[in-house]
Amino acid sequence: MMTREIFPGGPILELGPGTGVFTRAILGRGVPESDLTLIEYGADFVRMLEDRFPAARVLEMDATHLVHHQIYAGTPVEAVVSGLPLLSIPARKVMSILAGAFTYLRPNGGFYQFTYGPRCPVPAVVLDRLGLRATRIGRAVLNIPPAAVYRITRQPIKFPLCPLPDSWVTLPTSESQHKVLEQNGGSARHLLTFP
Ligand SMILES: C[S@@+](CC[C@H](N)C(=O)[O-])C[C@H]1O[C@@H](n2cnc3c(N)ncnc32)[C@H](O)[C@@H]1O
Repeated sequence: MMTREIFPGGPILELGPGTGVFTRAILGRGVPESDLTLIEYGADFVRMLEDRFPAARVLEMDATHLVHHQIYAGTPVEAVVSGLPLLSIPARKVMSILAGAFTYLRPNGGFYQFTYGPRCPVPAVVLDRLGLRATRIGRAVLNIPPAAVYRITRQPIKFPLCPLPDSWVTLPTSESQHKVLEQNGGSARHLLTFP
């Protein structure tokens, strides 16, 4: 469930791999071990991961500091897989983790988050501030407690109508033109006619 949208073809970043259950599942998708970067702050887990996945890059660091380190140069990350316990991490730190991860993630790449909670563990305010959206892509209701996986991606970019300065405005619009403009989120000030 957590790795079914993961395909080989580029670097994969895993946050909070712990004992490596998701890491093994990523490798099971055909991703070469050398394409993995594992970010873990528990020293004992780090040693265990280094033993189990000798070709992976294991970094002993706090995922909230991702934004302060240049862990990749150039190549965008295909996907981020997170086993971090986001429900028990303060919103400010969750924001740093996501902001950091998205600096490396390719434009349409997904950040896959596991949770035991009833909704996405990233607060809506954090998603909004970072221009992200979350979609639940799987649920294991028979699990105790029930588990779910969310895919977090960038919001599609909207191109807003560009308002014009007052001095440019002429208003030869009919009632029906106003209606169409309102329905499309604009106003008469977005129309420009030349004298
Ligand atoms: C719930 S466990 C992950 C379980 C994992 N799927 C496994 O197979 O063991 C969460 C992991 O995230 C690590 N972790 C928690 N906060 C972290 C942070 N800020 N930076 C890096 N690792 C963190 C913990 O040390 C722990 O190994």
